[in-house]
Amino acid sequence: MTKLDQIRAVESRLLLSTYERNPILFVGGKGVHLIDEQGDQYLDLLSGIGVNALGYGHPAIEEAIARQSRALIHTSNLYFHEGQAELAQLLTERTGLDRVFFANTGTEAWEGALKLARAHAGLLRSEGKQIGTKFLALEQSFHGRTYGSMSTTYKAKYREPFAPVVPGVEFVRFNDVADLRAKFSNEVCAILVEAIQGEGGIRPLSQEFFAEARALATSTGALLIVDEIQAGMGRTGKWCGYQHYGIQPDVTTLAKPLAGGIPLGAILCTEEAARAIHAGMHGTTFGGGPLACAVALAVINTIEKDGLLANASEVGGYFLAQLRSLAARHDAIIDVRGKGLMVAAELDSADLAKLVVAEMLKRRILINCTSDTVLRFLPPFILERSHVDAAIAALDEILTEHAAAFSGTQIARTAGGQ
Ligand SMILES: Cc1ncc(COP(=O)(O)O)c(C=O)c1O
Repeated sequence: MTKLDQIRAVESRLLLSTYERNPILFVGGKGVHLIDEQGDQYLDLLSGIGVNALGYGHPAIEEAIARQSRALIHTSNLYFHEGQAELAQLLTERTGLDRVFFANTGTEAWEGALKLARAHAGLLRSEGKQIGTKFLALEQSFHGRTYGSMSTTYKAKYREPFAPVVPGVEFVRFNDVADLRAKFSNEVCAILVEAIQGEGGIRPLSQEFFAEARALATSTGALLIVDEIQAGMGRTGKWCGYQHYGIQPDVTTLAKPLAGGIPLGAILCTEEAARAIHAGMHGTTFGGGPLACAVALAVINTIEKDGLLANASEVGGYFLAQLRSLAARHDAIIDVRGKGLMVAAELDSADLAKLVVAEMLKRRILINCTSDTVLRFLPPFILERSHVDAAIAALDEILTEHAAAFSGTQIARTAGGQ
């Protein structure tokens, strides 16, 4: 029995069966590569679902962890430590927002943002304004797995087994301005969006829809809350996805790459929204601890020192262009989209998409599939063109070899759809 087999056997007996793991045991990593127990290297184009911005074994992260773990790992939020003030300074400057709350994960940051919106609406009501408690979220949205986050997440499979969910959420058709207008009223306390939907299939908001959401929220005092947990912290070539649109939210949430692999989330908001929160209303034992903050500072400083926003734009643009030329050669690719290093190729068959992910894995390249048919690439920000070339060559080979077997579904779909 291999070590992997032993671990699988114990996990299948002892863990809740929430995950269908791929049969690989990773033991290390360097740069954009993960290393398995046999010493084989895998090109990681997923970076732990959009987390490992600096890849693996980055000296800046190792140094920050070593230094901070020797000094202080945890204090709770009852006392001061050195990290939060400096990190809040960097994050507020880069997001254009005024205040920060540090959490641990994406869903926890989002959960807090929802609480902030309801508390803010309550404050406005106490000041005589007419504003309700309803959330408008978007179809295909994904905001996390805790109750509020799950309740504002679109797909029924995430919500229904856990019903009843948090009440007061209505879903608007993605990028449908008329639907947004029809569903918006002064009953709404917040409009919830991802600038570029992640789990929903790497789908950017349209400029018109985003601008309308901003205008509607402003018209009543409702908050525009933008979830940047997947797109934020530089993945798209700017610190936040909304910065590509020139639209400023009232609240945003960050997590995934924020501390380069150490759990850390953040809610950022305007001074106006922050009026709603007072001591004791919200909190966390671990959030914004010294270790996570020290690593986040190292991540931000490295992104800037090494020009990784520009790298994300440049290599991401190259990735997109290469995928487009691949799409020109393979009918199975029906769309290519993304921004920076948040990139997707949509296929015409869910079975083919599944097979492509498995075949890439056989070639030791990690990608995944979201929304059934969308091949998703969320690589580390240190990705180089040569890594893109390797991925494109593998995709080309796989589609050449296998796409024909799925052409029946392709033809049926085209015939039915036009
Ligand atoms: C946009 C978005 N929001 C929230 C979350 C939830 O983050 P976490 O898994 O850290 O709770 C995710 C995770 O994929 C996400 O992509």
